[in-house]
Amino acid sequence: MNRRTIRRRRAVFLHRTALRGGLLLLILAAFTLPACNRQPNGNPADGERWYSLHRCDGCHGEDGIGGRGPELAATELSFRRFASKIRSPHSTVMPAYDEQQLPDEDAADIYLWLVSLEK
Ligand code: HEC
Repeated sequence: MNRRTIRRRRAVFLHRTALRGGLLLLILAAFTLPACNRQPNGNPADGERWYSLHRCDGCHGEDGIGGRGPELAATELSFRRFASKIRSPHSTVMPAYDEQQLPDEDAADIYLWLVSLEK
């Protein structure tokens, strides 16, 4: 084997290793990213009922079109952000809903319903 062959082989080896590393990263990302962005389980049809039962519509409008409160239809908030806004709103206008009044499961229903709406 002359030097050039050795160099070429080393290059091929490094290239393959890099490719494999990249592939591994891709696979890892494919498994971990959805976990950060996971949608909650729930029932959007129930969500519509909770939404009017809890009088969200009074401020956020029918079908979440907005009013005294911001538009919520087709919200781009993650469920985590959405839920934290419900537990501790950033204004004194919106009442805070605790787990007793509005359990996480019902909040998830509302969220899924809102996400399903068109802007
Ligand atoms: C009395 C009026 C009022 C009621 C009732 C109300 N909200 Fe709000 N909501 C607001 C106002 C005003 C804001 C904007 C200030 C803020 O972010 O806290 C807001 C903000 C929010 C946000 C954050 C929106 C964003 O894009 O940042 C979410 C999510 C939300 N409300 C959900 C709900 C849900 C779900 C209900 C019913 C369970 C509800 N709200 C009931 C007035 C209200």
